[in-house]
Amino acid sequence: MIRTGLLLVSLATLVASKPTSRALQLHEVRASAPSGFSLDGPASPSTVLDLRLALVQNDPSGLIETLYDVSTPSSPHYGEFLSKTEVEKFVAPKPESVTAVNEWLNENGITSRTISPAGDWLSISVPVEQANALFDTQFSVFTHLPSGAQSIRTLSYSIPSDLKGHLDLVHPTTTFTPPSAKLPIQAVPYTGVKEFKNFTSAGDPAGDCPDTYVDPGCLEAIYNIPRTAATQSSNYITVTGYDDEYANQSDLETFLYWERPCIPSSTTFTVEELDGGINDQTPADAGYEADLDTQYTVGVATNVPVVFLSVGEDDSDGVFGFLDTANYILGNDTLPSVITTSYSSNEEYVSINVANNLCNAYAQLGARGVSVLFSSGDGGVSGAVSENCTDFVPSFPSGCPYVTSVGATQSYTPETAASFSSGGFSNYWGTPSFQSSAVSSYLSQLGSTNSGLYNASGRGFPDVSAQGVDFFISLNGNFYTLSGTSCSTPTFASVIALLNDQLVAAGKPTLGWLNPFLYSTGLSALNDITSGDNPGCNTNGFSATTGWDPVTGLGTPDFTSLQSAVGL
Ligand SMILES: *[C@@H]1O[C@H](CO)[C@@H](O)[C@H](O)[C@H]1NC(C)=O
Ligand SMILES: *[C@@H]1O[C@H](CO)[C@@H](O)[C@H](O)[C@H]1NC(C)=O
Ligand SMILES: *[C@@H]1O[C@H](CO)[C@@H](O)[C@H](O)[C@H]1NC(C)=O
Ligand SMILES: *[C@@H]1O[C@H](CO)[C@@H](O)[C@H](O)[C@H]1NC(C)=O
Ligand SMILES: *[C@@H]1O[C@H](CO)[C@@H](O)[C@H](O)[C@H]1NC(C)=O
Repeated sequence: MIRTGLLLVSLATLVASKPTSRALQLHEVRASAPSGFSLDGPASPSTVLDLRLALVQNDPSGLIETLYDVSTPSSPHYGEFLSKTEVEKFVAPKPESVTAVNEWLNENGITSRTISPAGDWLSISVPVEQANALFDTQFSVFTHLPSGAQSIRTLSYSIPSDLKGHLDLVHPTTTFTPPSAKLPIQAVPYTGVKEFKNFTSAGDPAGDCPDTYVDPGCLEAIYNIPRTAATQSSNYITVTGYDDEYANQSDLETFLYWERPCIPSSTTFTVEELDGGINDQTPADAGYEADLDTQYTVGVATNVPVVFLSVGEDDSDGVFGFLDTANYILGNDTLPSVITTSYSSNEEYVSINVANNLCNAYAQLGARGVSVLFSSGDGGVSGAVSENCTDFVPSFPSGCPYVTSVGATQSYTPETAASFSSGGFSNYWGTPSFQSSAVSSYLSQLGSTNSGLYNASGRGFPDVSAQGVDFFISLNGNFYTLSGTSCSTPTFASVIALLNDQLVAAGKPTLGWLNPFLYSTGLSALNDITSGDNPGCNTNGFSATTGWDPVTGLGTPDFTSLQSAVGL
């Protein structure tokens, strides 16, 4: 009886899944899984895969052209950001693409669901056996050795030849990511004595940068960041959080009590949740990263509203949750002026098609007036996380020209590069026009050093930097000092959010995609960092020098100079 039942089921599956005979053409291929992944064997035929299909967008190059037009200070359309509908006109697929792909799916008994606001992403669920036939491939089980996490992926797949031009990519297929893009923040318990100083509203402690740690008062002193309260409630920062890292409101309250007694210690952030993300408030669940990111936005960008977006793992995102985050935010009519993400990984893990798709989502956010900031990573030239390497490892998504990549510095007399600050050149994106002269003058100073270890025609990163060593935080009733580009990114984000507050108050548009501004009129408003390097791969890495460099970018912010550079 049982045997017959099984037989009937599998026959039915075979009938339903028999692919129509369309000619197939190889679509994406990678030579091998990235190092650190091992092949275990074929995936079980009956395992159901949640696959995502990206449709070819209507006019992606039109989006980029418009993005430059609204983000370049010398352009007559500078600051004329697009609405949700206007952006979606560029990225929505053509109706014939939607029809062609759905007809093919229907012929195979598959129905799709639309999962992005512009309709450019579909989701399907298919057993491995059917997916193998549809895409002429063999889905297999791979293990990410350092974590033991298993995933089903393939080294190549095909799509029907007649769908070229309609179907952009199938995901997750040739993208192999570690389970998380968490950065290796170094945390040291703070054992010094803290003495409460009750300042008046003119005060708040520090401003004299204690040798032992960096706090908001120290950042305010080094970068001339104002302490006066922001006034525009429409201008907010979104802090993204992943990997079950929860931001604890009581830790923030403690932090503000000690570090910003002049602002009410009840000042807090709001929480939004995505993909099953939560913001559990049990002490054990607070994370260094989430507490750091909320304390250095709420505590530095005085009175700028902060949204903590907690992204969970109930998804088939396949790129650390970054795809879902971007599409979730793009689905909103109201957008933050700044998104800060202190997570980063390596470019080689993500297939070039998926990397381009995600980069295009950041371009959409830029076109709508959002500054998208990512940490450059903490592994020097060896990638987001320090690892053994021969060639330098570009981090991700810092290579995407439409994000602003933030590296790290330390000390302040003088300020120098932090040695963990990731920087280098993308293998996926070429040097964009906004930085071509900055990059070529760096390369001519560099000469033959590191020749052959990096891609001299790639997009250089980071773009900017900020302090990143020994940041004082409150966590779970204790104090710690933390180091990493994770400290630098919320700091730079807070500076931009405060500039945006003043711009909005003056009836002007927010800054949006920052890079064309930073490399032109913004250039002289940054403190050029000219010493330190970022070793890795058995080399000294790159050195910070006059002008842009792949360690500290263009340099660190000077709020007063930035105010005049943005016309305030
Ligand atoms: C600080 O001083 C003010 C004014 O004297 C007082 O109202 C406030 O309670 C004090 N704060 C703390 C935490 O002691
Ligand atoms: C989405 O829009 C709503 C309503 O304006 C707002 O409350 C929310 O914070 C927005 N979410 C994000 C992530 O920007
Ligand atoms: C690099 O390789 C050395 C020698 O094989 C090993 O001891 C070390 O742990 C490795 N470092 C990393 C970061 O993997
Ligand atoms: C170097 O970068 C260029 C420009 O993005 C790219 O076309 C090329 O494939 C890259 N080279 C390698 C070896 O990845
Ligand atoms: C947050 O962390 C504190 C310890 O700092 C803990 O006592 C508290 O239960 C946590 N949750 C909330 C809601 O504050």
